Amino acid sequence: MVDQVTKVHDETRQGEAYGPAATETQSYTKKFYIESYGCQMNFNDSEIVASILKEDGFGPTRNLEEASLILLNTCSIREKAEVTVRKRLTEFRKIKQRNPELLVGVLGCMAERLKSKLIEEEKLVDMVVGPDAYRTLPALIEEAETGQKTVNVLLSREETYGDINPVRLDSNGVTAFVSIMRGCNNMCSFCVVPFTRGRERSRDMDSVIKEATDLFNKGYREVTLLGQNVDSYYWVNPEDASTVITFANLLEKVAQISPLLRVRFSTSHPKDITDEVLFVIAKYENICNYIHLPVQSGSTRILQLMNRTYTREWYMKKVDRIREILPDCALSTDVITGFCTETEEDHQETLSMLDYARYDLAYMFFYSERPGTLAARRYQDDIPEDVKRRRLAEVVELHRSHSLLSMQKDVGKTFKVLVEGTSKRSEEHLFGRTDQNKVVIFPKEDHKKGDYVWVKVTDCTAGTLLGTSTGKA
Ligand code: SAH
Ligand code: SF4
Ligand code: F3S
Repeated sequence: MVDQVTKVHDETRQGEAYGPAATETQSYTKKFYIESYGCQMNFNDSEIVASILKEDGFGPTRNLEEASLILLNTCSIREKAEVTVRKRLTEFRKIKQRNPELLVGVLGCMAERLKSKLIEEEKLVDMVVGPDAYRTLPALIEEAETGQKTVNVLLSREETYGDINPVRLDSNGVTAFVSIMRGCNNMCSFCVVPFTRGRERSRDMDSVIKEATDLFNKGYREVTLLGQNVDSYYWVNPEDASTVITFANLLEKVAQISPLLRVRFSTSHPKDITDEVLFVIAKYENICNYIHLPVQSGSTRILQLMNRTYTREWYMKKVDRIREILPDCALSTDVITGFCTETEEDHQETLSMLDYARYDLAYMFFYSERPGTLAARRYQDDIPEDVKRRRLAEVVELHRSHSLLSMQKDVGKTFKVLVEGTSKRSEEHLFGRTDQNKVVIFPKEDHKKGDYVWVKVTDCTAGTLLGTSTGKA
């Protein structure tokens, strides 16, 4: 069983290929193959790309051999993410030798970071397209078809792809992601995202509501609102400047689409999540009790160097406030070990922060210096890799004990579970998630994908709850 609770080293998903959904019947003369890396937003961008390509007459395929266009939607967050993509590119050489007409494009954050350098360094790459330039893909493909190498890495202050209806290529038909903003203005000193994704901008509210409503009408039962920092969502109606929509307002409006539509969101920067948001979560049963609140470090000194703009104590108060307003709320986090100048005392403070917050889920990494970031320019990457790894192992071990306790405390309780599909291990079992985002496996009986089912938890592993259904919810 995949460990759903603790993913070590790399939270980012690696090279999942998108294929046509079972309902895809249209046939296309030209086929594209797309593989995505990185965060959920990047995966959602691939669905936007698929939509743009579909309009241009390209159909999706999972079969590399039948594609006339191969796209890698890449991530730059840690060095390892980029190394993986470079390895993958070398694997395409053989296919290109067999099929010289084949076009290879690099999209996403690595495209934005490396720009035309990528074409110089990786000879088989024909197109380099940054995250704000996907609308120009048809024109770039046309140019590339004439043998011209093409690059468009212009970042935009306005582009939100708000009007584009993403093609849900590899969907389970129950849960979907909806991007509500792009870019990031935060400038955390370790982070490459502000450079690869540009300035923060919020998508217009009406298009978000329309997309979520359409999903619900098609049978989807959960949407996750996505942004690097969703709590700073801010939209002013261009036709009526008195209508200002904050994240709390947007969350409420999405929740009102239907009580049967679950709403999740990610990511919250601790400095921006407001009481107003917490009260909206409390008010609506269908807004999930789950907050991803990345702490990064438990040491105020390191947090300052990271430019996170909160202190250890301030973060702890935020955790207290969440627990006060939402007593059943699950909390998850991101942690970086071995950031520049981190001492053993700083590291101990991170461990004690974990003890304080008792996260249900955590994504833990050791620091990877990214060229061009504030930290790379200002500070020395002075913690040896073996120390970074040892501290990471300690953080992981401590977190595992917390997440196991968090699973164990659910045994004996009954949860409303949204069924997402059949268990990978057994045709006779279904899997779904609780409000708190924990995976539950239980015997199928007469339930099916998309149903809400009450499940009594009888046992657990480190990453999964096991139970039996007590009826439809
Ligand atoms: N916008 C989100 C984070 C996006 S990146 C937020 O503000 O929380 C996801 C996670 O990757 C970050 O939270 C951080 O823990 C990790 N990360 C980012 N840059 C990193 C780096 N240079 N080295 C190691 N981990 C990094
Ligand atoms: Fe990166 Fe910080 Fe922005 Fe998150 S909030 S994307 S960590 S700069
Ligand atoms: Fe990676 Fe870019 Fe997302 S760097 S984590 S794909 S925003």
